[in-house]
Amino acid sequence: MTDLDRRDFLKASAAAIAATGITTNASAESTAMTEPTPAPTHAIQMPAFVDHSHLIVRDLPMISSWYQQIMGLKPVEKTASGEVLGVDGHPLLTLTTEGDAAIAPRNAPGLFHTAFLMPDRTELGRWLAHIAHNNVPLQGASDHLVSEAIYLGDPEGNGIEVYRDRPRAEWEYLQDGMVKMATLPLDLQAIYDEAPKDKWDGMADGTAIGHIHLQVSNIPEANSFFRDVLGLDLMATYPGASFFSSGKYHHHIGANIWNSRGAPKRQANMTGLSDYTIRFNDPVKLQSALAALEKLEIPVTRSGEGYSLVDPWGIGLKLEA
Ligand SMILES: [Fe+2]
Repeated sequence: MTDLDRRDFLKASAAAIAATGITTNASAESTAMTEPTPAPTHAIQMPAFVDHSHLIVRDLPMISSWYQQIMGLKPVEKTASGEVLGVDGHPLLTLTTEGDAAIAPRNAPGLFHTAFLMPDRTELGRWLAHIAHNNVPLQGASDHLVSEAIYLGDPEGNGIEVYRDRPRAEWEYLQDGMVKMATLPLDLQAIYDEAPKDKWDGMADGTAIGHIHLQVSNIPEANSFFRDVLGLDLMATYPGASFFSSGKYHHHIGANIWNSRGAPKRQANMTGLSDYTIRFNDPVKLQSALAALEKLEIPVTRSGEGYSLVDPWGIGLKLEA
């Protein structure tokens, strides 16, 4: 692809994004040259964080190949029913397939997106250049004040965000302890232009799942579950969405009802998000969450490395220390 073609791709992506109501803005000011580099793994250094996502897919070889070629994940392990992919040997995404899996309707509780956090803006740009060269369509791109985010979907429609954080010193905390976030245009062209045009060899070491964003059916119920039961902090609210974190990160978990308001529980063995894992760096917080789950008589199963449960919307959740 020539430089001209790449610019056309970015323009086409921008047009597609504009058509979805999120616009890019070529005049947005770049701050890449003046910012200190944030700690690449700060999201996962908090007392609790999202460590892993598990998708049930229909075409395992095709989807696995896509995550390797387009997202730059590498095989970590093969299992009886699937594969584990990750970065630098660290597992991030499990893909399994089951012949009788029902195709999840769009409004089912489950995944809105798995968000991969890049170490810095340069790596975000290098990945953007890679997908531009491969003509991968984008679904959106936003400046959230705390972060710069690019959205797409895998070939079976599982949502993906790829983002980088601005330094935490630049985040604005409000008087109530929440963090200021917004959805503003993102200058994709600038991010692309600033990236070195060297060979891309997959996701950089340090890339992690920074957050997971879920479709749930009821926001007050989400506030109760993630804040009051699991012990996360409510960090931001949007119309129809709440954002939760540990350690005052902007969010480790998002929950919205934009497609799924009032939807019935997710059924077992549906395509899409089977389960995800919250890992606790602080074992006291894990014990508090387990005690709250027991008090509410929410069934929890002790599994090999931690605890498994099903959330109020039928989404699997593992808690591990
Ligand atoms: Fe997100």
